[in-house]
Amino acid sequence: HQNIYILAIESSCDDTSAAVLHNNKKLSNVVATQHIHEEYGGVVPELASRAHQQNIVPVVHQALAKANIDKKQLSAIAFTRGPGLMGSLLVGTSFAKSLALGLDIPLIEVNHMQAHILAHFIDEENNPKPQFPFLALTISGGHTQIVLVKGYFDLEILGETLDDAVGEAFDKSAKILGLPYPGGPLVDKYAQLGNPKAFPFPKPKVKDLNFSFSGLKTSILYFIQKQVKENPNFVEENLNDICASIQYTIIDILMSKLKKAAKQTGIKQIAIGGGVSANSGIRQALKDAENKYGWTTYVPKFEYCTDNAAMIGIVGYLKYLEGNFSDQSITAKARYVI
Ligand code: KG4
Ligand code: ZN
Repeated sequence: HQNIYILAIESSCDDTSAAVLHNNKKLSNVVATQHIHEEYGGVVPELASRAHQQNIVPVVHQALAKANIDKKQLSAIAFTRGPGLMGSLLVGTSFAKSLALGLDIPLIEVNHMQAHILAHFIDEENNPKPQFPFLALTISGGHTQIVLVKGYFDLEILGETLDDAVGEAFDKSAKILGLPYPGGPLVDKYAQLGNPKAFPFPKPKVKDLNFSFSGLKTSILYFIQKQVKENPNFVEENLNDICASIQYTIIDILMSKLKKAAKQTGIKQIAIGGGVSANSGIRQALKDAENKYGWTTYVPKFEYCTDNAAMIGIVGYLKYLEGNFSDQSITAKARYVI
């Protein structure tokens, strides 16, 4: 095919990222993670947009330099339009619009959640691509969805969270345990050394293919408060077991809904995406499900799990092939359903 070069920009939350793709191959994928939020125990939107403002130009320069291409070679600019934090999205959106205008090349808007799913189509060695139709479980700090994917741009949400996202469940549980933000990766780390059956937590009863995680957070909070009253060192002494038990419960909730979705649709092609798909427990559970239920599962490379611009770039490329461009009147969209 042609030589299409896409510069992609992602700024929906607290990572400023830029990537360059040559057709469906990644040439560079630069991510500047904002550490400023750690001391606040969560993302502070105002600080996030200011940091994006500061990071975006150096990050784009780095992405172009690493890809070893000049901006004059670019075919189009793709950017995250939403969903996300409005102030954060505005930085990437405005930057992308200006650059596309300046270079006089097409502008392509991308839905962040769709990008988490289509990240599977970035061409990588030893990473087979899912075949349509497949089920995608998107699990991130902001979303938890089961999506029926019939084509690149033919997606249907079958179920989603009614309250907290699964990443929030990890992060809020970690906060209760006194772990810094974002606590998800730390819970994962300690969980690998603990007993998942040590402390049973209740599973919520939620209809259909929807999820709920706010009750779990509350029951963890009450449980810890009660135990700490009896033994002030309870958390330190049992950190691995507590983390393993929390992770076990969360994965159990995810897997039971995924099983239900697979049964309902008769689809055995299962892909995951989003920051939480970096979790070792969910990766193992999916591997086990291949043998147990005859599923074929697809897990993206670590690099494409958490927020990154390469996933925005692959959607940009696919839209470029269709001539699906945006015009300069486009605006960021904090709530943006796929
Ligand atoms: O997709 P992402 O980078 O940003 C959003 O779009 O939200 O996801 C970030 C979320 C955070 O909640 C983080 O704690 C969680 O992904 N996360 C993990 C792991 N790595 C990242 N949660 C559990 N285990 C992990 N290994
Ligand atoms: Zn994300």
